[in-house]
Amino acid sequence: MEPVLVTGAAGGRQGSTGRHLTAQLLGRGIPVRALVHSDDERATVLRALGAKVLVGDLRDLADARTALDGVRAAYFTYPVIDGLLDAAGAFAVAARETGLERVVAVSQLAAGPDAFTPRMRQHWVAEEILDWADIGAIHLRAAVFHENLALIADTGDPRTLTLPLGPEHTELPLVAAADVARVAAALLADPARKTEPIVHLTGDVQSIGTAARTLGRTYRDIDPDTWHAWALEYYGTRHAADHLTKLWEIFRLLSEGTGLYQVTPAIHELGGHPPITLADYAIHRPGH
Ligand SMILES: NC(=O)c1ccc[n+]([C@@H]2O[C@H](COP(=O)([O-])OP(=O)(O)OC[C@H]3O[C@@H](n4cnc5c(N)ncnc54)[C@H](OP(=O)(O)O)[C@@H]3O)[C@@H](O)[C@H]2O)c1
Repeated sequence: MEPVLVTGAAGGRQGSTGRHLTAQLLGRGIPVRALVHSDDERATVLRALGAKVLVGDLRDLADARTALDGVRAAYFTYPVIDGLLDAAGAFAVAARETGLERVVAVSQLAAGPDAFTPRMRQHWVAEEILDWADIGAIHLRAAVFHENLALIADTGDPRTLTLPLGPEHTELPLVAAADVARVAAALLADPARKTEPIVHLTGDVQSIGTAARTLGRTYRDIDPDTWHAWALEYYGTRHAADHLTKLWEIFRLLSEGTGLYQVTPAIHELGGHPPITLADYAIHRPGH
């Protein structure tokens, strides 16, 4: 059986969607070629799971060609750092050459040409690049990962969840990274399975106050500049600090009661069971 290529397979600071996906595909008996950025202990874990690990840089065309050689289906993810369009471009060129039939790519809920943050606009351009390559692209436009909130909570005062989101009734659309992976797994296990080319993934909608309590914390509002300074240090990249500070501002301005965010049916329909809520995630996350 041909392997499925999973990029971002080691997982990182966002949701580790590629790590979840690798485990899920292997669990279904589907061989995985796992692309990692560095050969460290995370790669060792992937090998122990049964993945064939390949080390490479997605922005490098030669590495993308090697990664895509002999596969018909692939997962594309790139972290919230500079270089998304370099990676999407190299991936698209290589995938078109090698005749990829399906790519499932993670994008953001509000990706669009006029979206509020440069990263959201880059996601939309990346979607276009993958579409032009004619490689069966499906874009998963995901809400905020549960992990995103949980990791922030873990790095500051453990009793508080400190974000510049204004009043505690400010609403957030959320999704578990494992559910993003589950939808990707379904589409990659059966590359002929039909779906819309853009799939919205929201698995839960919570106010930030309730979300914090669900994670065992108390929500604390903070001014955006102070949070930005903290984020610069924590993420180590202006790209992530700028994007997230702007993202929280958008949620803060939209605040509550807009009805803008709804749980989407795709997780259940494609992934096979109801979404993992933030409460489910809080109970089952490692170490809790
Ligand atoms: N966080 C959220 O709330 C959220 C919500 C919606 C959508 N998204 C989107 O989700 C995506 C990220 O999700 P994720 O869970 O897969 O991210 P992640 O957990 O940060 O994992 C990213 C992986 O990519 C690898 N990587 C970094 N640079 C690379 C390169 N040049 N070449 C090859 N691999 C590289 C990293 O390896 P190293 O660690 O070794 O560098 C890491 O294993 C982003 O596109 C983001 O916009 C995020």
